[in-house]
Amino acid sequence: MIIDKDYAISEIDSRIYGSFIEHLGRAVYGGVYEPDHPQADENGFRKDVIELVKELDVPIIRYPGGNFVSGYNWEDGVGPKELRPRRLELAWRTIETNELGTNEFVEWTKKVNSEVMMAVNLGTRGIDAARNLVEYTNHPGGTYWSDLRKSHGYEEPHKIKTWCLGNEMDGPWQIGHKTAQEYGRLAVETAKAMKLVDSSIELVTCGSSSSSMATFPEWEATTLDHTYEYADYISLHQYYGNRDNDSASYLANSLDMDHFIKTVISTCDYMKAKKRSKKTMNLSFDEWNVWFHSNDQDKKLDPWLIAPPQLEDVYNFEDSLLVGSMLLSFLRFSDRVKMACMAQLVNVIAPIMTKDGGGAWKQTIFYPYAHVSKYGRGIALQPVVNSPKYDSTKFTDVPYLDTMTVYHPENEELTIFALNRSLEEGLDIDCDVRSFVGYQLIEHIVLEHENLKAVNTIEHEAVRPHSNGDAKVQDGRVTARLGKHSWNVIRLGKRS
Ligand code: AHR
Repeated sequence: MIIDKDYAISEIDSRIYGSFIEHLGRAVYGGVYEPDHPQADENGFRKDVIELVKELDVPIIRYPGGNFVSGYNWEDGVGPKELRPRRLELAWRTIETNELGTNEFVEWTKKVNSEVMMAVNLGTRGIDAARNLVEYTNHPGGTYWSDLRKSHGYEEPHKIKTWCLGNEMDGPWQIGHKTAQEYGRLAVETAKAMKLVDSSIELVTCGSSSSSMATFPEWEATTLDHTYEYADYISLHQYYGNRDNDSASYLANSLDMDHFIKTVISTCDYMKAKKRSKKTMNLSFDEWNVWFHSNDQDKKLDPWLIAPPQLEDVYNFEDSLLVGSMLLSFLRFSDRVKMACMAQLVNVIAPIMTKDGGGAWKQTIFYPYAHVSKYGRGIALQPVVNSPKYDSTKFTDVPYLDTMTVYHPENEELTIFALNRSLEEGLDIDCDVRSFVGYQLIEHIVLEHENLKAVNTIEHEAVRPHSNGDAKVQDGRVTARLGKHSWNVIRLGKRS
């Protein structure tokens, strides 16, 4: 590898380390909020969860859905709790009590040092509900909706900056699913009204709900034709799973992800050219993760329960390797991917799990997310990589080495993130870092396990990182042996 200060891709927007909380399963009730829990604070928020979210350092959190938002009346979740209606929640077929709503969620995000990315309902509702919500949350006062907020105890506006124009509107499962033409028209008119209420907000228009949708990327082209001048970002969503137990292919999925991102960038740039626009559309990868472990179990759940254990994937070690690799894709495209949300954050396909009334623990995927969130801030550098490759059943020419580097000029630190995809052998890396004069090794963190299927439980954290990697820095070269199927974080810093 060659790593050079001059090979800068972009300043990294820290919002790529965002996440997502949906009114789904035990994400909100039993995850974020559990007033009877011994660790609950004065607002009913679990303090153990707050501490774990803070450890991940999550700058932005998408809310309140997801599929949920397409049937949600935001007015149900504000005002006196005893007056809030219980509703049939049709996306996940549960009962929504509305005990927690917009104001409480904003309060919670402050406690975890984050901010809200708010989605509006473009399924069952539209322009009116969306513009009223912006007025409720962001207008200072003196109008019906802003004064209602004040009467609910929130004198100051929440100033929510980032808003999603619906969720996965291309998906036939979505309540209020639309054709690209229908969505494009509704999205642009909603965007117009929302920006008239508050011109400082930023808007995310719905892209495809995955690259495997038959309508991808025509959906992007058609909808952007309507929304290009009003939207600031287009969304991407993608989940992977290892259903065939084909780990060699599974660990190569970031190649698919890179291809997805490149295609969306090309489509945006085509639209920029078509419209003779000066504006560049950026990307918000606002749902991504591994999701498949809980699929069968979820089919057995009865409907109309309150906060049932839905989408509770128990992640294993190989999932954590893929999650690390997906994060590297965001760094590779950090000139265009400005936001990303791991879906989700607590209990629902999540790095953090809780037991009702009991403890909280870290799933395997917690670690690569925490590492890249902590050490992946600054400037993404494009490494020149010469790696041996393999073919799997689904991919050809997969580099064994998946790597990205981040330079933090203020801290004078350089971090090499490196995944060895080989299932059989270690990999010796040799990196030229001569442009980093005087840099020495700080630590070489390794996440490894003999068993790809090892999981963490509340009782036992089988998969956790150690700092005993063997990286060495000498004469402007970093050398290290990366164990077979291992995730590595090699940190260098300037010593005076
Ligand atoms: O994150 C779980 C679900 O996945 C979301 O509700 C939806 O947007 C996506 O299909």
